[in-house]
Amino acid sequence: MEYRFPEGFVWGSATASYQVEGAVGEDGRGQSIWDTFSHTPGKVLNGDTGDIACDHYHRWQDDIELMKSLNLNAYRFSIAWPRIVPDGDGEINQAGLDWYSDLVDGLIAASIEPYPTLYHWDLPQAMQDKGGWRSRSTVDAFERYAEAVISKLGDRVTNWWTINEPWVISVNGHESGEHAPGHADPIEALDVSHHVMLAHGRVVNLLRRDPRNRVGIVLDQTVYHPRSQHPADLAAAAYEDAKRIRWYLDPLTGRGYPREVIDTIGWGEAVVLPGDLETIAEPIDCIGVNFYCRQIAEATELSDEVRRGPIVEMHGTPTEMGWEVSPEALYEVLDRLRSEYGFESMFVTENGASYTVPPVDGEIHDENRRHYIELHLEQVARAIADGIPVDGYFVWSLIDNFEWAHGYSQRFGIVHVDFDDQTRLVKDSGTWFATVAAANGFVA
Ligand code: FCB
Repeated sequence: MEYRFPEGFVWGSATASYQVEGAVGEDGRGQSIWDTFSHTPGKVLNGDTGDIACDHYHRWQDDIELMKSLNLNAYRFSIAWPRIVPDGDGEINQAGLDWYSDLVDGLIAASIEPYPTLYHWDLPQAMQDKGGWRSRSTVDAFERYAEAVISKLGDRVTNWWTINEPWVISVNGHESGEHAPGHADPIEALDVSHHVMLAHGRVVNLLRRDPRNRVGIVLDQTVYHPRSQHPADLAAAAYEDAKRIRWYLDPLTGRGYPREVIDTIGWGEAVVLPGDLETIAEPIDCIGVNFYCRQIAEATELSDEVRRGPIVEMHGTPTEMGWEVSPEALYEVLDRLRSEYGFESMFVTENGASYTVPPVDGEIHDENRRHYIELHLEQVARAIADGIPVDGYFVWSLIDNFEWAHGYSQRFGIVHVDFDDQTRLVKDSGTWFATVAAANGFVA
């Protein structure tokens, strides 16, 4: 079967600042909540930190060459707020702006379109000390930081992502506590989600000053399939969907927050001020979809005896993150974004898999990852064939990197990184992805 993509389809790879840059103490960069968190014993597997990571801060030119050799025409990276405004809301650090400006120049010279994300989780620690995303002052500071970035890069950058995965910021950071800043308070998590979404809307407004800009937000997307057709499982799936998916898509499209979540958690909505929901619903040009796997929802209090109807089972061997390989769910996500929410442009901003395949004789035969990517690209092609407007695909990730609470134990790169000497080695999945990007399609 041959899969062809429309002319101009964007083929990219994605990374995030704290996961790849390293150089945490250089050129005036301030501390972020991830520096604090990763240096707190017990928070990250094996005590790993992003202090050095992939040393992308020093090796960015080689990494651009790498992208070029992989025929990629776009790079999604994130900008570290603490490099630009080291204490969050104080002085602007010119050296930080210059570094990203050089990166952008290098990308453009290599015919790789920059797609920066303004926030991928590395909040300046100084802002956390003032209340973090729970506090409205963080929204003001974010707007000011974004303004500095936009005025520096805006002459060359026209594709912007505001925020990466607000659900993860809210829930992993403030409800489960497995991410920085490590809080565990469901009410705080909802306050945080509101301020993060407000920060998004404010920056959409800023970017509207230049009509060339295309702006979107990156949401982690999934579908919740009920474990069985029992009404309690159906209700569980509907609630999880409201909490993780609709909680963001509904206000983004002017529908407000799902009432059932507000009521279940007992959120007072005190942080929602007049005008906020209008700001959050500022129209955007495209939506970024991070997709890894579907979820199966079940009502925990249900005993097996009362289960009714067909039971959904996980299929396929999970990836090393324990995530099911469920490519059809990506189609469901894309279809829903068009039919239910009316988005007219979508990008898969992250998709990929963690598998550890060690190098043998200078080669890495990661057929599992290649196959994972192929299965998902088939669903993207299927979506496009059905008229769903998907304009690009960014593989996660260009290089193996610091996988948050999992440290360096999870490898998502299409390029292997030897963390002892920082050598890069293109994996088979990378070689294959390069042929797909060059041919704008593949045969499976
Ligand atoms: C996403 C994150 C990204 C990476 C992948 C595996 O949730 O946006 O930084 O860690 O998961």
